[in-house]
Amino acid sequence: MCGRETAFDEASAMVKSNCSVKKQAMPSMKIPLLLLFLVFWSSAGGAQQIDPHALYERACSGCHAAHAGEFVFEVLENRENDLVSRMSHRPVSAVLETGHGGLSAAEVDVLVDLFSDISRSGRLFFRKCRICHVSAKVLARRKLVIRDGRLIGRYSDQIVSQYLMNHGRLNADEIPTMVEVLTRQITTKAETQD
Ligand code: HEC
Ligand code: HEC
Repeated sequence: MCGRETAFDEASAMVKSNCSVKKQAMPSMKIPLLLLFLVFWSSAGGAQQIDPHALYERACSGCHAAHAGEFVFEVLENRENDLVSRMSHRPVSAVLETGHGGLSAAEVDVLVDLFSDISRSGRLFFRKCRICHVSAKVLARRKLVIRDGRLIGRYSDQIVSQYLMNHGRLNADEIPTMVEVLTRQITTKAETQD
């Protein structure tokens, strides 16, 4: 999704560059008004972007796993491209739409997107990396660090997005996804200090 995450490295920046908004000539008189509007809009909070991980932690982690990643693998499974509950086989979107967790419709969409992202990228790791690496979490937390906004090898200093061009047999478009998955293992660790 455009602008949701910071670009962690050149590879993801490249992929995301097509998200950048086309510049349009705008009469200069209108700019102060626009700024004023933006200030109100963002401080009102209503239409603001929802942080999906924070939302999960606020609304769900009291009763379910501490992190969305664990929740997805414990509670959900992928069936015919729909994420369903392992228990009842109901789609997670349906469960949440009935009011479980007390989310607004917009929040349901945000969480369902997050769960789908996690499920998709988890399968990617499982398919292509699991033979040699225990888990994305262990790999990232033991071997990698974020320095100057980039994911690099803690001991090797290698830039992961470049390293993966010749390691792990990912397609070019899977590399930014994988870099995000690995980065997320580190940023969620920082939040919880575990
Ligand atoms: C107050 C505690 C509580 C909160 C908060 C909560 N859940 Fe649950 N959830 C449960 C319990 C307990 C079950 C098991 C229900 C059962 O046995 O029928 C469950 C079951 C589920 C199921 C499986 C339902 C099914 O029909 O198989 C899903 C999916 C789910 N929760 C998602 C979430 C999500 C996502 C959130 C956050 C938006 C959330 N829950 C918030 C307690 C909670
Ligand atoms: C055939 C085995 C194998 C596969 C498959 C594999 N790796 Fe590796 N990987 C290794 C070995 C061996 C190393 C170097 C030793 C180490 O750091 O554990 C390594 C190192 C790495 C490093 C660098 C760590 C550093 O210190 O710089 C990253 C990042 C990495 N792998 C990610 C992945 C990802 C992501 C995948 C899946 C897309 C993957 N690997 C698939 C064997 C594998």
